[in-house]
Amino acid sequence: MPVTPAKPLSLDDIPHPPLTPVVGHTLDLLRDPIGLHMGAAQTYGPVYKVKVLGQWRVSLGNADALEFILGDTQKLFSSYEGWDMLHRLFPGGLMLRDFDDHRAHRRIMQAAFRKPVMDAYRARLETATTTLLTDWQADQPFKFFPAIKDMTLRMGAAVFMGLDLDDPRADLLSNAFRAEVAAATSVIRKPVPFTKMARGMAARATLTQNFAKMIPERRAAPGDDFFSQMVLAADEDGNSWDAEDLVDHFNFLMMAAHDTTASALTKVAWALATYSDWQDRIISEVDALPDGPIDDAGLASLQATDLVFKEALRLLPPVPLIPRRAVRDFEWQGHIIPAGTWVSASPGTVMMSPEYWTEPEKFDPDRFGPDRQEDRTHKYAWAPFGGGAHKCIGLHFATMQVKIFLAALLKTYRIEHASDAPIDWIRVPIPQPKGGLPVVLRKRAQ
Ligand code: HEM
Repeated sequence: MPVTPAKPLSLDDIPHPPLTPVVGHTLDLLRDPIGLHMGAAQTYGPVYKVKVLGQWRVSLGNADALEFILGDTQKLFSSYEGWDMLHRLFPGGLMLRDFDDHRAHRRIMQAAFRKPVMDAYRARLETATTTLLTDWQADQPFKFFPAIKDMTLRMGAAVFMGLDLDDPRADLLSNAFRAEVAAATSVIRKPVPFTKMARGMAARATLTQNFAKMIPERRAAPGDDFFSQMVLAADEDGNSWDAEDLVDHFNFLMMAAHDTTASALTKVAWALATYSDWQDRIISEVDALPDGPIDDAGLASLQATDLVFKEALRLLPPVPLIPRRAVRDFEWQGHIIPAGTWVSASPGTVMMSPEYWTEPEKFDPDRFGPDRQEDRTHKYAWAPFGGGAHKCIGLHFATMQVKIFLAALLKTYRIEHASDAPIDWIRVPIPQPKGGLPVVLRKRAQ
């Protein structure tokens, strides 16, 4: 008997959670993106869609889908189009470029991440961290998230811009930077006067003017900060950036680096205050570091720190959803998805899936240890830094920053919760604890 070929499924056949009139799933996504996606995946399976700001966004679900979307061997998915929320404030950033153009710019940026300059950033990070930590006092409860956000921004002035920590420009630029980032997720997308977007656009103008002024200074006397290294950056064929590209890349880099690291460090601080056995393990390895500046061997010896950082990123990834837009029709598991559809890769749900992780809800850093290696169950089972052509270029820098911070902090203090109240985590605009995570530092007995 002849077999009738199965009718290909279309976008219309993809299931979705019940829609709220007018807003669709927009408010659910803003309130709890992972909850929305986990719930939809449990009900409908890996392929489903949600409607955000009037547009359908298709989620393809599991780790194979992450590999398909982020690995993008067929050049199907535009990152520029996917990250449309950043177009106004961060034009020209590396993540907002596609395919050959992206590759050409990434090759140039790679020069600012070479080993010798990473060593120089490490030294700057260590000095700035030690200095800034002197403002943190023992026995006085404070909110960790705003404090670490402030510290990473001030460190940005030193390590990214090469300014002294007390340079008056540092505060001006930090404030402008906060306004610019706040605007990226504001609901009103046009710079209507007195809105977050209008303030964000004004802040962008302040930042870009200041960065443009710094270019000739740094060309004349380059330092070992990110900005100088980006002024000098060239690929192996000698291609470099003009002033406009340079300013746009730097502006984007600052955004990509700060809130992500502050969010991850907050989850790490929560973990240490909650699981004192893990804090003890990290303190032992910090105590075993030789005196003097931390070097590669010292960083590599911080293995429990590595496990806790990985687990923190799994449980609360700073970037749980990665948006793309299809540039051509494509097929996924029998569905024909038309060009122009927004597609979400979702490392946040993959990293909580029992398909790859035992008891995914549990804080259990040993799952990454040599005996278990749960992150090896699939190339994309653990993907807080994304993957493929746009994989986070700052992942080693972020790991270095986290280790340097913890080594400096735990050399002197233990960290404890300052309140017994349960902690609620919000995901938007960047994952963070409601209430800021009240903690207290206690001086360690020496
Ligand atoms: C824990 C901290 C961090 C996390 C979780 C994180 C996460 C990510 C993710 C998921 C992407 C890929 C986005 C996509 O594919 O659309 C990305 C890209 C990027 N990240 Fe990070 N990031 C972190 C820290 C940093 C730092 C410290 C820097 C700079 C020093 C940085 C610079 C960048 C840049 C420039 C891109 C764009 C890369 C490209 O498009 O080629 N990130 N990051």
